[in-house]
Amino acid sequence: MSRSALPNRRWIAVAVVLGTLAGTFARAATAPPKPTNLSYLYDAFDNSFPRPVARQLDPARWVRKIGHNPREAANVDENDQVRLPSTWWQPRVGFVPVTAEQMLAGPGPGHGPAPGRWQVTKAKTQGVTPGFFVKDASGKTFILKFDPPDHPEMASSADVIVSHLFWAAGYNVPDNAIVTFRAESLDVAPNASVTDASGRKQPMSREDLTRILGRVRPQPDGSYRAMSSRLLGGKNLGPFLYEGRRRDDPEDLIPHECRRELRGMWPMAAWLNHSDVRCANTLDMWVTEGGRSFVRHHLIDFGACIGSGSTAAHDYATGTEYYMDYSVATEQAVTLGLKSFAWESAVDPKLPTVGFIDADHFDPKTWRPDYPNPAFDERTDRDVRWGARIVTGFSDDMIRAAVGAGMLSDPRAADYLTGVLIQRRDLIAHAWSTAASVAVTPYHP
Ligand SMILES: Nc1ncnc2c1ncn2[C@@H]1O[C@H](COP(=O)(O)OP(=O)(O)OP(=O)(O)O)[C@@H](O)[C@H]1O
Ligand SMILES: [Mg+2]
Repeated sequence: MSRSALPNRRWIAVAVVLGTLAGTFARAATAPPKPTNLSYLYDAFDNSFPRPVARQLDPARWVRKIGHNPREAANVDENDQVRLPSTWWQPRVGFVPVTAEQMLAGPGPGHGPAPGRWQVTKAKTQGVTPGFFVKDASGKTFILKFDPPDHPEMASSADVIVSHLFWAAGYNVPDNAIVTFRAESLDVAPNASVTDASGRKQPMSREDLTRILGRVRPQPDGSYRAMSSRLLGGKNLGPFLYEGRRRDDPEDLIPHECRRELRGMWPMAAWLNHSDVRCANTLDMWVTEGGRSFVRHHLIDFGACIGSGSTAAHDYATGTEYYMDYSVATEQAVTLGLKSFAWESAVDPKLPTVGFIDADHFDPKTWRPDYPNPAFDERTDRDVRWGARIVTGFSDDMIRAAVGAGMLSDPRAADYLTGVLIQRRDLIAHAWSTAASVAVTPYHP
């Protein structure tokens, strides 16, 4: 062995050790973050009580408010636009041309499970509407969710219509579609499971399936209509929060309440009366694409949008006050309950498949979800104008096409919904567009 070979061997050994360490760290950096485990009840409580109170008691916030110096979104460039690439949002309507066809094909083929026999793999245990997971003959898995008996088509159409509109607005959404099937074409998979009331997983039987379908009203021909959502690809990491960060995701560097695409989603939510816009209806997936693994952030579950409140029609007051609304409570206390509300004069369109939504009582500047959303609470004028640019970018044809995807069997329902969404879009344009002279298309059913 020559003397000069020795240092070489040493360097090789050092390189091997460093390489191994680097490999270990690289693996650590590309390992998926831990799935979130959130109590949805706690989220509702926290955002209704402690957080609003803490906000009111935050001196820094008051200094900014009095000084008209709000904290602007952190992930924007020098042109005040979302920095790209983003795993949250892509520029689509309002930024690049998007056709109705692209919108309909955007989230996926929109077919639901392939025709044939479907294997039921699991009962849906979360949430309020009945449902279960099925696998089709090609091995693709879907979650099926159903309409409340008194409002056939309502929640399923809302989920499909609004998923397309949110896709076109630039957000990541699942491939949702309306499907019909007969109970006889379902098989319960041998390893299918159902979680009982005490949270224990039990094998699922045909009786369990019959019990779930017993909560669903079949169509006149005996078939069932459902909303099918193709399971998102990748590893399920649970929901994202509308505040803070996922600290074990090295890419998640900006507090979510400071993200433009989350704050600026408020006009979309207002337009579509998305009262259920909360962390439970988001989903992070760990995906690998082009040799890179990362977290993709999705919006899911639009079953409580437009006129649908999932299990019943939306209340007239939905969108005008929080469940626990301190300003409404104060007004009521001061006026001894004598103050009347604009929504009291709302007129029910008497379209059970739509539920309740109107444009005459829609005030785009004061719209509210069911309980405060941390990102919406931080929105500034710039965030809202950014979101209004998206809403006002939707053409009448796109709105009509999205409503068509909801497959409402009553043409009056589809016409009503299209008209109301057009008018609500125009009201948003009128309220937020820099061109002050936007005309509002009156809609009279
Ligand atoms: N397309 C999907 N891909 C992967 N997981 C999904 C998908 N849709 C739903 N899920 C899972 O199922 C859970 C419940 O879904 P979803 O929010 O649509 O229903 P829900 O809130 O229980 O329904 P509802 O309250 O309307 O009955 C989600 O938290 C998510 O974990
Ligand atoms: Mg949900």
